Amino acid sequence: MTLTIAIDGPAAAGKGTLARRLAAAYNLAYLDSGSLYRGTALSLLRSGLEPAEPAAVAAARGLKPELLADPEIRAEATGKLASQVAAIPAVRAALLDWQRGFAQHPPEGKRGAVLDGRDIGTVVLPDAMVKLFITASDEARAMRRFKELQAKGETAIYARVLEDMRERDARDTARSTAPMRPAEDALIIDTSAFDADQVFRQAKDHIDQIIIRT
Ligand code: DC
Repeated sequence: MTLTIAIDGPAAAGKGTLARRLAAAYNLAYLDSGSLYRGTALSLLRSGLEPAEPAAVAAARGLKPELLADPEIRAEATGKLASQVAAIPAVRAALLDWQRGFAQHPPEGKRGAVLDGRDIGTVVLPDAMVKLFITASDEARAMRRFKELQAKGETAIYARVLEDMRERDARDTARSTAPMRPAEDALIIDTSAFDADQVFRQAKDHIDQIIIRT
């Protein structure tokens, strides 16, 4: 039995940390789908072209896997542009097969795949066996992102981080194609008051119950 886990939610809610831990616990391949949008944005930034539709779609279609490992995809400016190009339906369409292919053909020896993003449970993998929606208050998420930036030695202002994050979430939620929202059959976990271990245990209990029932 192949195990496919879809994790969605807003920025800095803890999706990536949870996805990596679940990948290790259940022997799954992991795809951070945001890295595809970030890679598209970075390739546009480097090309010097405007993020208008034709250039963004060409960047998404020509996305090189090596770019996904470039540290610059984690930069705040790349995340902001990623959210902008992600609102273009043809960009999303160009990245859809990549994501579905990853879930359908996990590498040899893996039991399945875990993907995280904004529309995995609703659009990319509507038949995923497990769907989770990981969220937290704006303030808790902004504080986590602020501390991450500080730890990287970057100068950051909390109020600015909060404002940028709200702007990005609003865009990701309001777009007409594949907006961020929980799938009807997703378990919603609010991580505001939980640490990574507690979130992992809640998710694992839920997944184990689904596995037993299947
Ligand atoms: O998760 P992240 O911050 O790396 O994602 C960057 C942007 O990419 C995010 O603001 C919206 C977009 N994105 C998306 O639209 N759909 C996904 N499945 C993943 C990311």
